[in-house]
Amino acid sequence: MLPVRPLGPGGRAVSSVSYGAMHLSIQERPSEREGITVIHAALDAGMTLMDTANVYCLDEHEIGHNERLIARALIERGGAAGDVLVATKGGVARPEGRWEPDGRPARLRAACDASLGALGVDRIALYQLHTPDARVPFEESVGALAELRAEGKIDLVGLSNVSAEQIRAAERIVPIASVQNRLSPFFREALSGGVVQYCTDHGIAFLAYSPTGGGRLTRKLPSHPVAARIAGRLGVSAHAVVLAWVLAQSPAVIVIPSARRVEHAVDSASAATLALADADLAAIDEAEFSRS
Ligand SMILES: NC(=O)c1ccc[n+]([C@@H]2O[C@H](COP(=O)([O-])OP(=O)(O)OC[C@H]3O[C@@H](n4cnc5c(N)ncnc54)[C@H](OP(=O)(O)O)[C@@H]3O)[C@@H](O)[C@H]2O)c1
Repeated sequence: MLPVRPLGPGGRAVSSVSYGAMHLSIQERPSEREGITVIHAALDAGMTLMDTANVYCLDEHEIGHNERLIARALIERGGAAGDVLVATKGGVARPEGRWEPDGRPARLRAACDASLGALGVDRIALYQLHTPDARVPFEESVGALAELRAEGKIDLVGLSNVSAEQIRAAERIVPIASVQNRLSPFFREALSGGVVQYCTDHGIAFLAYSPTGGGRLTRKLPSHPVAARIAGRLGVSAHAVVLAWVLAQSPAVIVIPSARRVEHAVDSASAATLALADADLAAIDEAEFSRS
């Protein structure tokens, strides 16, 4: 069992290191069998939240790929998967593989119905607006999620890629359980822009996405002078050090690292119990994490 943190006011507690399943369904994805093996490894490591989205797939022809994969992995686990919370999202389209916001209420309603089917559930535990759509008043998109909740199709409502101002506007419409924004030592705008603080002050879970930088940046960590030095001294990976730093930013933070490899999922889970000394946290605070 991993340490847990609450999913919003009065919400269920989930593992502070949880699993982001995106890379099992987009470009360079593993086979479905390999993907299910990784999901099972994440569950075995104690992760109790699986983050997905209807659009974690290659293009518009296979919407729900990642949700169906998670559903299959959980079915294979039978009752042992009963404690796992699956969080999905709607509000983005994948025309010809592009990522395009689509926060129109009717599209969100249809996306939610499709996600219920893909996940094989009567109610989605946490449904997140994937991103605001500049062509649609934000309140209309959030209003659609409020209606879905009132109809019992979703339990908790979450937001993603939002500002503190937008969270405040959404809270006037429906209780918000979680906010999923990018946060890593490479990208700290959730700290400087006040979103992490807002979530902390209002009891909202902050789901940190791309917590090790994602893709190319993640691969730079083993040679990063500060992260690697701390990792070497503690006998852990540089990735675990960085995840521990993200977790240390607030008790509201839950990290959702992705992994296509079993060993990466297991290594990420180890960060849940890795407490960095203040001096190490400060060293990462002050270090440069170049994006070039
Ligand atoms: N809401 C949004 O708009 C949004 C956007 C992006 C992502 N997300 C969510 O956030 C999750 C994570 O984001 P992300 O994939 O961009 O970033 P990430 O978790 O920071 O990076 C993922 C990469 O890190 C590698 N990795 C993980 N643990 C490792 C370890 N211990 N050692 C070495 N490499 C390691 C993985 O490699 P392997 O694949 O080779 O195992 C994977 O390619 C996604 O799955 C998704 O659920 C949400």
